[in-house]
Amino acid sequence: MDLLEVNRINKTYGTGEAAVNALKNVNFRVPKGEFIAVVGESGSGKSTLLNMIGALDTPTSGKVFIDGKDIFSMKEERLTVFRRRNIGFIFQAFNLIPELNVEQNIMFPVLLDYKKPDPAYVEEILTVLSLQDRRKHLPRQLSGGQQQRVAIGRALITRPTLILADEPTGNLDSQNSNDVISLLKTASKRYQQTIIMITHNRNLASRADRVLQVSDGVLTDLGGFSE
Ligand SMILES: Nc1ncnc2c1ncn2[C@@H]1O[C@H](COP(=O)(O)OP(=O)(O)O)[C@@H](O)[C@H]1O
Ligand SMILES: [Mg+2]
Repeated sequence: MDLLEVNRINKTYGTGEAAVNALKNVNFRVPKGEFIAVVGESGSGKSTLLNMIGALDTPTSGKVFIDGKDIFSMKEERLTVFRRRNIGFIFQAFNLIPELNVEQNIMFPVLLDYKKPDPAYVEEILTVLSLQDRRKHLPRQLSGGQQQRVAIGRALITRPTLILADEPTGNLDSQNSNDVISLLKTASKRYQQTIIMITHNRNLASRADRVLQVSDGVLTDLGGFSE
């Protein structure tokens, strides 16, 4: 069974003259462990699509199934828990907790679920994200790129089945961007995590298993690139 099924999603913002059809009959499936890049011009509907998949907003019509579950049929409370256990979000607004240091911010989602973080995995994340010597720093003591890396670590720590990333490397230099993509690739290949990543960077997109393009709300499958 596919991990993600997006079934004829339409999203219209506003009404009448002001209506914007941000997504038009978007339909695709993603097997478990696949790493998808989503490309497209600014305003084409990429973030809207990601928000629907993460159930952060509801479509005008259509359904999203994650692991066979119709996410829009869930009650809010159940959806909140489902999201926390199954989806890792890497979005532009970092939403780091200002009072917690780097290590604590990364471990936070695990603690929220009354679980114990795996210390070896915390170390691996800190190392890959080049944050070892910043582990005791607070978010306000970090650069934008460092804060973004903490947010990435926080999304990965629970090893979510589905990772949704909106321009995760937007503030990073090319070395860090490549390291982050490598980390995401490992997550998909070693741990069978499914990844949907929006990027403007064609080089980074080409490292995904498959590229989907959104243009004016319409989705096209561009297939895969061989490395
Ligand atoms: N909350 C909203 N209200 C009204 N229009 C919106 C809203 N969010 C996005 N849009 C519109 O929907 C279209 C797609 O936006 P978005 O998904 O953010 O594009 P992208 O992420 O590809 O840049 C744009 O025309 C944008 O102006
Ligand atoms: Mg966007």
